[in-house]
Amino acid sequence: MSERELKEKNQERTIPFTFQGLEEQARAKLSKEVFGYVASGAGTEQTLRKNLEAFDQLTFRPHTCMQVDKVYTEIELLGTKLPFPILFAPVGNQKQVHPDGELASARAANSLQIPYIASTVSSYTIEQIAKANENGKRWFQLYSTKDDEVTLNLVKRAEQNGYSAIVLTVDMAQSWRVRDMKNNFLPFSRGQQPYPNLVSDPVFQQNYQGKLETDSLENTVRSIFPNSTFTWKKLKKLSKKTSLPILVKGILNPEDARLAIQHGAKGIIVSNHGGRMLDGCMPAINALTDIVKEVDRKVPVLFDSGIRSAKDVMIALIMGADAVLIGRPFVYGLALNGEKGVQTVFLDYFEEFRRSMRLAGISSIHQLKKLKLYNIK
Ligand code: FNR
Repeated sequence: MSERELKEKNQERTIPFTFQGLEEQARAKLSKEVFGYVASGAGTEQTLRKNLEAFDQLTFRPHTCMQVDKVYTEIELLGTKLPFPILFAPVGNQKQVHPDGELASARAANSLQIPYIASTVSSYTIEQIAKANENGKRWFQLYSTKDDEVTLNLVKRAEQNGYSAIVLTVDMAQSWRVRDMKNNFLPFSRGQQPYPNLVSDPVFQQNYQGKLETDSLENTVRSIFPNSTFTWKKLKKLSKKTSLPILVKGILNPEDARLAIQHGAKGIIVSNHGGRMLDGCMPAINALTDIVKEVDRKVPVLFDSGIRSAKDVMIALIMGADAVLIGRPFVYGLALNGEKGVQTVFLDYFEEFRRSMRLAGISSIHQLKKLKLYNIK
């Protein structure tokens, strides 16, 4: 994008340029409860804070006087070409921040030509999100349930609705989020239909018809979700029952990355869920190098948790990630201006990333990965 085009675009925009700006405006716009749900982390929020601090301790040495009039930002991931190595992180309950919720984000993903990753706990169903995403690329983020038949049927619905990969999140059992507890906040309170993907699921309806006659929907869902009984063996079983590649999200331990691949994973997502689950666990960026080494290019390694601008994307890629996912920044864009807000946030990342590559004297992702990282503790 030229300077003139950028200036013209910026005259119309209402969305802040920085993460701090996005967060401030979202805080002013959303209720205390909803803002707390998005922004907060688990426990003392140490991991949430350290995710960002860890990035601030890393830097890289650029090149100059290289021919960088053309910069190639494209990557190939799971056999698909993508314009940038920057994707949506799966985020549930988006209707809390904007009435169009996931539908707006899925539309934005389509126009940006990057995959939309629909969460199991989306406020719209797998089918509704697929429709909004039209002929875009989409993946389905799976939370397993204690009922294997229900879990498998969620995957089957994703297959039938044009999703091309499964992101199986394994770092979520039960969190301790103090801000939500203080605010007495439950994501599916406030008049929203709870768990649309489960409630609309024919296998769930069939298996729990009896229980639903005598117990509440909330208790019925809670009898199978969250699931703290998932094992690597179950991953193997699941991977044999779907034609879609499974990426395992929530890995911080190289040994787990090895086991995931042994049990059928076709991709690893290094993540600590943006500091929302296990307080005290290491910043995700500090876990990346060892995992990249362990995986040894057998499958792609993606990264999320703490990406706040293009320099963080650069750092994660130099460390060996094949692509990154961003979470809260786009959720704030959604809160501030729906589909357009989401789009603006991603376009900022794209343009700043392209310019950063040029400034670092590199014209391809392959070259970017050869830069060296330094610790500036
Ligand atoms: C999430 N995340 C998440 N992850 C997932 O696998 N399934 C989900 O349903 C959700 N839901 C969710 C809701 C909200 C409000 C947030 C902020 C996050 C975690 C998400 O995919 C990602 O791991 C983090 O958001 C990445 O960290 P940053 O970019 O927010 O720092």
